[in-house]
Amino acid sequence: MHTSTRSAVLVQGIYKTFKKSQALQGIDLEVRPGEVMALLGPNGAGKTTLVKVLTTLIKPDSGNAFVNGRHVVDEPEKVRSTIGMAGQYSTVDDMLTGFENLRLIAGLRGFGRRGARRVADELLERFRLTDAAGRTAATYSGGMRRRLDLAAALVGAPPLVLLDEPTTGLDPESRLDTWEAVGELVAGGTTILLTTQYLEEADRLADRITVIDRGKVVAEGTSDSLKATAGQRLVLYVAEDHEIDPATRAAARATGLVPAVDRRARRVEAAVTDGRAALARALAALADEGVEVLEIGLHRATLDDVFLGLTSRARREAA
Ligand SMILES: Nc1ncnc2c1ncn2[C@@H]1O[C@H](COP(=O)(O)OP(=O)(O)OP(=O)(O)O)[C@@H](O)[C@H]1O
Ligand SMILES: [Mg+2]
Repeated sequence: MHTSTRSAVLVQGIYKTFKKSQALQGIDLEVRPGEVMALLGPNGAGKTTLVKVLTTLIKPDSGNAFVNGRHVVDEPEKVRSTIGMAGQYSTVDDMLTGFENLRLIAGLRGFGRRGARRVADELLERFRLTDAAGRTAATYSGGMRRRLDLAAALVGAPPLVLLDEPTTGLDPESRLDTWEAVGELVAGGTTILLTTQYLEEADRLADRITVIDRGKVVAEGTSDSLKATAGQRLVLYVAEDHEIDPATRAAARATGLVPAVDRRARRVEAAVTDGRAALARALAALADEGVEVLEIGLHRATLDDVFLGLTSRARREAA
């Protein structure tokens, strides 16, 4: 159970408690070289805390974590020299230009004067910031800033890049830009651990997804395997507004979950794990409520269903 040269990231039983909150409660995680792992979780799940442990910004209370085979507590400098990091909050200096920001970071990473200029120029070009290179970062749009952040994480071409919520708060176009940049990194063989609250992002970018909630891993797998565990969705439509509430009650009884209701479409839906049996229970419950449905059926689960099902289950168990 010691160093692993095979894993880009290996996390074993990490705990971290802050004064009031148990941010990480025994996290296990592995990221293999060359893969994109998404750490998916709601606000406060512990994503940033884990990223900070892995980037040696904070020490865990217990457990072990290895990054590129190096122990995060015993060999922090070695860990830092093999990773790139873009945080949830921009680390870019507003007063410096895009070029100066990157040159500074390259200098800190051991590049000489010339090397630092070259690295800065290359990255500016790669992230379509050459035209803005001479402007201070304060004048950048959110998307440009995020690209600069990403560029900063790539100085020195680290084999592993950690991105904490790389697209939170971005408009759709900038989000696509960022996804594209991540795609290029992956194509170049970089291993990526990214955190996100967006299902779509995890679905689109990640080879594997680890869902965390309240400091614990609640699921792990590919997007497809997670969808398969969530089974299906029960979806029904009623004809009249007054039937929505009884139909919702029936769906809740049949699935054990709080259904999602679209009043305008008169649609009620909830995740189910035992498709046909749940459908049968729903039909019986609807008959009990005296509701005639317009349409009822089973649909393949989306990643949203997986996520909501998992995190709401964790909340129920905690309560
Ligand atoms: N420095 C700190 N001091 C005290 N509590 C903290 C600190 N950092 C994090 N926490 C707490 O630890 C828990 C996990 O926080 P963390 O920032 O890791 O969550 P997150 O998954 O990154 O959330 P978000 O999606 O909002 O960024 C939260 O309850 C948070 O309030
Ligand atoms: Mg965070």
